[in-house]
Amino acid sequence: MNGKNNFMDVKDPGVVAITGASSGIGDCFARILASQGFDLVITARRKERLESLASELKQKYGINVETIPGDLSKVEFMKEFGSYIESIGNLDVLVNNAGFSTAEDFISKNSDIDVFMRMINLHCNATAYLMHAALIPMRENDRGVIFNISSTASLMLHGSREPMYHSTKAFISAFTEMVQHKVSYIKSNVKLKSICPGITHSEIWGETGLAEPNKFGGPMSPEEVATISLDSYQNNDIIVITGDHNIEEIVEWKEITYKKHGRYFSKNFTKSGLYKKL
Ligand SMILES: NC(=O)c1ccc[n+]([C@@H]2O[C@H](COP(=O)([O-])OP(=O)(O)OC[C@H]3O[C@@H](n4cnc5c(N)ncnc54)[C@H](OP(=O)(O)O)[C@@H]3O)[C@@H](O)[C@H]2O)c1
Repeated sequence: MNGKNNFMDVKDPGVVAITGASSGIGDCFARILASQGFDLVITARRKERLESLASELKQKYGINVETIPGDLSKVEFMKEFGSYIESIGNLDVLVNNAGFSTAEDFISKNSDIDVFMRMINLHCNATAYLMHAALIPMRENDRGVIFNISSTASLMLHGSREPMYHSTKAFISAFTEMVQHKVSYIKSNVKLKSICPGITHSEIWGETGLAEPNKFGGPMSPEEVATISLDSYQNNDIIVITGDHNIEEIVEWKEITYKKHGRYFSKNFTKSGLYKKL
């Protein structure tokens, strides 16, 4: 933070809303931002976890922490939480972090389609709804930042990995970038960031929370991901890939996509203009 008191370098830190604050990356954002003097509004489904985090942070830093437990894949709660954050006059930060992965196979006849619909609701609908809500006070104040926690998966749309996770994360990255362009066009000072972590130790990887490294390196800790995200406020990057080893992985995937499969070249179009089967 270059000796500053908070990552935004403001004298009057306002309120931070964090989704998925009951563990992992969201919990780390809450701890770091509480230590910088921001008040918090935290949500996730596990009420006890939120309450225990709230009482710890209130006691340690003398800040206000409000807990609003609920399931953001459900429209009613998404709207309730959205109206609440829209009403926070001094909202400085929204961290759209709640997310999950799945071992379900989309193309299997035995897969549970509801899991995928919940993923669209949480990763796409809730993210967009809460962005819209947060932009109301932020644009009014002409300050603030939205961190949408996407993934390196959003930039690797190829291979046999789980299609819904990659595609919903691709929506997050693309939508964040488009909204940032619109916000910049009107010369607003509000910032939007699509945070793209690679493999990170957290409960998303199962009970132990311990992820395996891949050939590029990692995993990272959730503290590192939250710290890199907050540091990125000082630059104008919209897509923030957390760590050089994650950039290397994406470059390799892009090279495979461009060179081996030639995905973006006109030679892959048939005479009728249809996309040739790769
Ligand atoms: N860990 C990685 O390797 C990695 C890599 C790239 C991107 N990410 C992304 O990082 C974000 C945070 O994940 P994490 O790694 O920190 O995993 P995590 O520890 O499992 O945290 C996920 C958070 O999302 C909340 N959540 C899940 N479903 C929810 C729902 N329906 N409604 C409300 N809250 C919900 C969980 O809380 P409750 O269960 O209490 O609701 C939890 O607080 C996710 O968006 C994930 O996709 C993670």
